[in-house]
Amino acid sequence: MNTRQHRNIPEELRERLRSARRVFVLTGAGVSAESGVPTFRGGGHTAVWKGMPFEVISSASMVRSNLPEVWEWFDYRRGRIGECRPNPAHETIARWQERFESFTLATQNVDGLHAAAGSRGVLELHGNAWRARCLKCGNREDMREKQRDVRPPLCAECGTQMRPDVVLFGEMLPERVWISAAERAAHCDLCFVVGTSAIVYPAAGLPYAAAEAGAFLVEVNPEPTPLSEMCDVTLRGAAGEILPLLDD
Ligand code: OAD
Repeated sequence: MNTRQHRNIPEELRERLRSARRVFVLTGAGVSAESGVPTFRGGGHTAVWKGMPFEVISSASMVRSNLPEVWEWFDYRRGRIGECRPNPAHETIARWQERFESFTLATQNVDGLHAAAGSRGVLELHGNAWRARCLKCGNREDMREKQRDVRPPLCAECGTQMRPDVVLFGEMLPERVWISAAERAAHCDLCFVVGTSAIVYPAAGLPYAAAEAGAFLVEVNPEPTPLSEMCDVTLRGAAGEILPLLDD
């Protein structure tokens, strides 16, 4: 789809954008793809690191069995995302917090690019790669301020080893963040699902909650997902090209 076709944003969607009062946006790795952050899936590929599928290295059991390896993987990821800047998709979403009466952004991304674009109060469902969390006392620290050569890093409060403050496979989502996201999704009238393969639960359940509540559902993704069929509008293409068109 080229830009000219993107201009064919359905009039019904434009009307919904004009009348919406409570907007909920769920984003995934695809919203950061144009910033240079690799996605986990998509284009027929899944991410592999040192021969391990990412579900193995990004898992609760790996934290228990080989925490230094988990740190190596997150140091590598932070190295990549540290060079990335927000793209027009992040910027458009950041503007939307002023545009609608009520606006909620929930993301599965741990890269911090929504906040870097100016989004406030982002519900980070899977945590944040820039933070570490103490295995014992739960103290959180900004990795940008931690010594780089100590791995696993040690807690400034109690000296115990820390882990990345992210949600790994086999772990629960942070409770308060999840409850807020579920409540906001269930009370929105317009829901955007941007750049996610929509297969990792419970995050993938949020658009269904929105649809059940009667929200108008819009997907922005170059590829179809299990959610596509139930969307009112699917916009096939890159988020950084499509979302700015919705501000025209
Ligand atoms: P995925 O990597 O599973 O999916 C990325 C989606 O983005 C795919 O559907 C692509 O088609 C789409 N995409 C690619 N480029 C795009 C672009 N320029 N604009 C819009 N969409 C684009 O990422 P997530 O759905 O975020 O969890 O993955 C969900 C969770 O699985 C992640 O948070 C992570 C992962 O394992 C954990 O690590 C716990």
